[in-house]
Amino acid sequence: MAQALLKAVDITKSFAGVRALKGVSLEIMPGEIHCLAGENGCGKSTLIKVISGVHPRDGGTLEFDGKPMDKFSPIDAIMAGIQVIYQDFSVFPNLTVMENLALNTELAAKRKLVSKKRMRQIAEEAIAKIDFHVDLDALVGSLSVAEKQMVAISRALMFNAKLIIMDEPTTALTRKEVKALFDIIMKLKAEGIAILFVGHKLDEVFEIAERFTIFRSGELIATGKIADLDDQKFSYYMTGRRFRNESFQAQELTQQPVMELKDLTLDGYYEKINFALHGGEILGITGLLDSGRTELALSMFGVKPATSGQILRNGEAVSIRKPQDAIAHQIGFVPEDRLSEGLFLTQSIGDNIVISEIDQLKTKSGTFDHEARQKEVDRWVQELAIATPDANNNANTLSGGNQQRIVLAKWLACNPEVLILNGPTVGVDIGSKHDIHMILQKLAREKGMGIIIISDDLPEVLQTCSRVLVLKNGRIVHEAPAAELTEQAILDHMM
Ligand SMILES: Nc1ncnc2c1ncn2[C@@H]1O[C@H](COP(=O)(O)OP(=O)(O)OP(=O)(O)O)[C@@H](O)[C@H]1O
Ligand SMILES: [Mg+2]
Repeated sequence: MAQALLKAVDITKSFAGVRALKGVSLEIMPGEIHCLAGENGCGKSTLIKVISGVHPRDGGTLEFDGKPMDKFSPIDAIMAGIQVIYQDFSVFPNLTVMENLALNTELAAKRKLVSKKRMRQIAEEAIAKIDFHVDLDALVGSLSVAEKQMVAISRALMFNAKLIIMDEPTTALTRKEVKALFDIIMKLKAEGIAILFVGHKLDEVFEIAERFTIFRSGELIATGKIADLDDQKFSYYMTGRRFRNESFQAQELTQQPVMELKDLTLDGYYEKINFALHGGEILGITGLLDSGRTELALSMFGVKPATSGQILRNGEAVSIRKPQDAIAHQIGFVPEDRLSEGLFLTQSIGDNIVISEIDQLKTKSGTFDHEARQKEVDRWVQELAIATPDANNNANTLSGGNQQRIVLAKWLACNPEVLILNGPTVGVDIGSKHDIHMILQKLAREKGMGIIIISDDLPEVLQTCSRVLVLKNGRIVHEAPAAELTEQAILDHMM
């Protein structure tokens, strides 16, 4: 067997009381595509930071390219051939593509004067390697997420990388962009570069990776060939739990729809949308990114009010021109971009949860009821299994997946009659995802809540919703009970 490119053995790492890595090992062969998976908070990013010299390890050994790596800095790791592409890509938005690409190399080469011509040449070589077509003089801030990622990958290639680590690279990408990224990963592999792909989306892992390593709570659970893995094993290794896959059957529906749309239209986005949502059902709305699905969600919550048509609540036409109108009509909304729209990162987890029900948490005399607040916070931390030692910690101390549960808790705590969720489990691992789906189903079944899930995650739509609407070019092109649909059937209507 060939010698491993990276060999990490028995790595331990703790942060003030949190044992993030309890002795994990990881072996990556030269030129292989290796997937590191595990639920939120299991230690994936921590291991990456140890490998790339950001965090010193507490114990264990690390070898790269046949050499031991001890007491090394991020620059040492880069010089050895290790490149990390973080989720934020660490690009400079106010510099051009060319400047982003050329700066680091020039700095590394310790050149005093950077010639414009030389910069351009370096940049052109880098983007050509991955067939990336972009205006080198465009400001990086004006590029799409996928393009920013390409800039980061191109930059990584300029340092003779032997291993490129991508931390959850597909979270913010569309299907098409994911495909493009996978093509690039295959190209890098063909050049002999190994890729460590961090992710927890089953279909992606099966599509791209050759070998896998799975962590759970800072421990190594399994490692091996993807060919020996299946859905069931993957979910079990990740969560330690076994799930059943059955679609949701709505039981007792309210006689009157809790919400109805009549010919709702937003010029330029969607046209004449009609449907009735009954309490107790979960309605899925799916479609491609440009189908108008997001705008429709935003209109129902008053963020982008419709230009014509009607919204009815319990049979009566209501005017929803701003979010406050929607909230007054007991409509809750979990936005797509929770991290910027839904969460106060520098406030405590507890405050984030109760923020929208402050009024209900007053005693009869009008003072703030701390006991009731604590009870409510504890309830939601427990119900959504938010992994934190203390709900008084700031929201930004949590892993991404756990932050998303807070936003959900915040809305659920308000007990809305209609709950609209746009991409409710984007970036959430399968265990939490399953839990969130179960919570939504319970809310529909036991509280009679009318729930709308807008999502392009087809397994999610099929398993969690009772009924599905497919949107294409701003119109509803298909409607059917989820139990009568398949992923392929939905795709056929979507495309
Ligand atoms: N700088 C830090 N200070 C304190 N605790 C930390 C720090 N970084 C990570 N942790 C904790 O270490 C554990 C592992 O976190 P890590 O970010 O490695 O998880 P992850 O597997 O990358 O999760 P996700 O899928 O959500 O990105 C978590 O409990 C996290 O809260
Ligand atoms: Mg992480």
